[in-house]
Amino acid sequence: MNAIETTGLTKRYGQIVAVDDLDLTVPTGEIYGFLGPNGAGKTTTLRMLLGLTRPSAGSLHVFGRTPGPGYLDQVGALIEGPAFYPYLSGRENLRVFAGHARVPGARVDAVLRTVDLTDRAKDSYRTYSLGMKQRLGLAAALLKDPRLLVLDEPTNGLDPAGIADMRVLLRKLAADGVTVLLSSHLLAEVSQICDRIGVLSHGKLVTQATIEELRAGGTLHVTAEPAERAEAELIALVGRESLHANGSGFDLNVEPAAASRINTALVTAGVEVSELRWREPDLEQNFLELTGDDHVR
Ligand SMILES: Nc1ncnc2c1ncn2[C@@H]1O[C@H](COP(=O)(O)OP(=O)(O)OP(=O)(O)O)[C@@H](O)[C@H]1O
Ligand SMILES: [Mg+2]
Repeated sequence: MNAIETTGLTKRYGQIVAVDDLDLTVPTGEIYGFLGPNGAGKTTTLRMLLGLTRPSAGSLHVFGRTPGPGYLDQVGALIEGPAFYPYLSGRENLRVFAGHARVPGARVDAVLRTVDLTDRAKDSYRTYSLGMKQRLGLAAALLKDPRLLVLDEPTNGLDPAGIADMRVLLRKLAADGVTVLLSSHLLAEVSQICDRIGVLSHGKLVTQATIEELRAGGTLHVTAEPAERAEAELIALVGRESLHANGSGFDLNVEPAAASRINTALVTAGVEVSELRWREPDLEQNFLELTGDDHVR
C-alpha cells in the first residue's frame, strides 16, 4: 500500500489555483521530496493532506484511509512551526504536546534522544537556536511514533551542519520504516536526502523521478594520441553512438567500471592514454531536462 495517494487534488483560493489537479503517490518507506519554487503550492498540498484545509476537488488517501476519524493516527507533521511556549523548557513543551496527543509521557524522553536534544531539554524554548527549535518541532511530530512524517521545509534556516544532522536523522527514521514527505525549494538539498523527487510548479506536478534517474549518466573522458587511432579503437570498443568528441579527447557513455578495460585495450593497440577520468552526471542539468522548468534551482 502507498503511504499517500491523491487524485485530482485541487485547491482554489478565489481566482488563484494553488494546487491544480494533483496526482501524487508516495510509496511506503521512501523519503519523498516535494520540490518547487515559492508559491508553487507545496504548503497548500501538505495542509490538505493533514486535514488543515479542505480540498476544492479531488480525493486523498493516507495509508488507504480517507479523511475522517483516525485518518491521521499514524501521521506526524511539522508545518509552519508548532506553537511552543517560550518560557517552558523543551521537555515541558513536549509534555504538553504529549498530553494533547494522549501519548505516554515516556515518549518525551525517547523523542528528545532521537533528535539529540536531551542535553538542552531543561532549557527554556526561547533560548534555543533555530536548529534546536526545528529539532524540537520534529520531536513533537515524532511523539505519536508515526508511520508517516510530513515536514514543510524542515531545513529552512538551518546551516550546513544542521542540514546534515537533519539528513542523518531522517535517514535513520526511514531505516526504521517511517515514510517521509518533505518539501523544499532546493534541489541540492532534496537530492541528498530523498529517494524520489516530485516537482511542483504553479500547482501542478511537472515531473517525478527517483534519485537514480536524476543521477543517471555520467561520462568517461579519454584523451589519447594519436587521436585517429584512439577514435577507431574506441568505436570498436564502445560503439559509435556512445562516443562523443570533446575538445582534444572523447566522452564515452559507459559505466565507470569500463575504464580499466578501455585503458588496457588502447595501450595494447599502441595508443598513448594521457587522461582517463570519470565525470559525474550533472544533477542540475538532468533535472532541468526532466522538468523543462528553470524556475526550480
Ligand atoms: N489562505 C490562502 N488564501 C489565499 N491564497 C493562498 C492561501 N494559502 C496559499 N495561497 C496561495 O496559494 C499559492 C500556493 O501557496 P503555497 O503556500 O502552497 O506555496 P508554497 O509552494 O508552499 O510556497 P513557499 O515556498 O513560498 O512556502 C500561492 O499563490 C499563495 O498565495
Ligand atoms: Mg510553503
